[in-house]
Amino acid sequence: MTFRREETVWIPESDLEGMSVDTLAVRAGQMRTGELEHSDPIYPTSSFVYGSAAQAAARFGGDEPGNIYSRFTNPTVQSFERRMAAMEGGERAVATASGMAAILSTCMALLKSGDHVVCSRGVFGTTNVLFQKYLAKFGVETSFVSLTDDEGWRSAVGENTRMLFIETPSNPLCEVADIRALADLAHSHEALLVVDNCFCTPVLQRPLEHGADVVIHSATKYLDGQGRCVGGVVVGPEKLMEEVYGFLRSAGPTLSPFNAWVFHKGLETLPIRMRAHCENALELAQWLQQQPEVETVFYAGLPEHPQHELAKRQQSGFGGVLSFRVEGGREEAWSFIDATRMVSITANLGDVKTTITHPATTTHGRLSPEDKSAAGITENLIRISVGVEAVEDLKTDLARGFQALQNQ
Ligand SMILES: Cc1ncc(COP(=O)(O)O)c(C=O)c1O
Repeated sequence: MTFRREETVWIPESDLEGMSVDTLAVRAGQMRTGELEHSDPIYPTSSFVYGSAAQAAARFGGDEPGNIYSRFTNPTVQSFERRMAAMEGGERAVATASGMAAILSTCMALLKSGDHVVCSRGVFGTTNVLFQKYLAKFGVETSFVSLTDDEGWRSAVGENTRMLFIETPSNPLCEVADIRALADLAHSHEALLVVDNCFCTPVLQRPLEHGADVVIHSATKYLDGQGRCVGGVVVGPEKLMEEVYGFLRSAGPTLSPFNAWVFHKGLETLPIRMRAHCENALELAQWLQQQPEVETVFYAGLPEHPQHELAKRQQSGFGGVLSFRVEGGREEAWSFIDATRMVSITANLGDVKTTITHPATTTHGRLSPEDKSAAGITENLIRISVGVEAVEDLKTDLARGFQALQNQ
């Protein structure tokens, strides 16, 4: 590497070939300007200039590579995209303004009126609304099946099914789907398998390696990890990503350079954060199981979890999100949550700070009572996104919740 450089260069991806996801998180997608900065630069600019009118025309016509306008080309956004593509093992990534924009852009780019989607029932509530309320208006019909109901998936797939959409592990019940089996089912019907990999991140699970076609993230969660920015990303083969990119260029749900920079830097600590999240979550899940006021704990790291063995095969860790049912209903769940003092009562997850949520009245509150019940979102269910605080301190805080239940 020369230390007298005039131009911006991308650190060659071939230098990192075969390296582990821990290294890719820190090094992939790195760019260096002529200033030779060690940390990554940020390009907060809406447009780019050209040396001549002819060069502008060549850029717009696609005859010459280079930046045009930050709705669809920005070097900081590209740094984040390249790092994500490397970490997920995909050919290309396209960053979006939010996780929902990632899902919408994927659907708008890869589906058309008359197509049918099969979606798992336990997906994030807003994903459910997007399919049922909005995509339906444009002639895309969606059927919902339980994530783990193999027969349900087989019978839901029809002639016009073009996409299977899953979240695994699911939110908030931590069910785990067999990605390979669903990819085979999708491909035997010329459909795509799209996986929302938000809960595991590429550190714990790389769905493309198990046969998925497209991976989606809400970067808002673990990829940032410190609850600062909203964003998303889609990863997959060049051919599909070119379509997603084309939608972004035309419709504009683009990631800002500042947010891309925050995510890009956030990724550098993702592997060590994920290990800390997993360790704390497992210990907390085991502790929750011992509490008399707890009916059930949902966490794939527990040997009793119905897909524990599958999760062990498919993931390299069980993740930082767990949920549990307390004895009683909404009143008991709310008084548990209200008695905590340190953990944050918020709907976000994937943060270094532990968060506590009542899914039935927040993240999944817009689901109909029937959909909630089919998805197992009961009134006594509490979700915890376990952060990286000392686990003993988390137990102390949650014990306040159990104390409140005992005092009732
Ligand atoms: C699993 C999952 N997917 C997608 C989303 C949507 O992401 P965003 O809030 O960034 O739009 C969320 C958000 O909470 C989520 O939990």
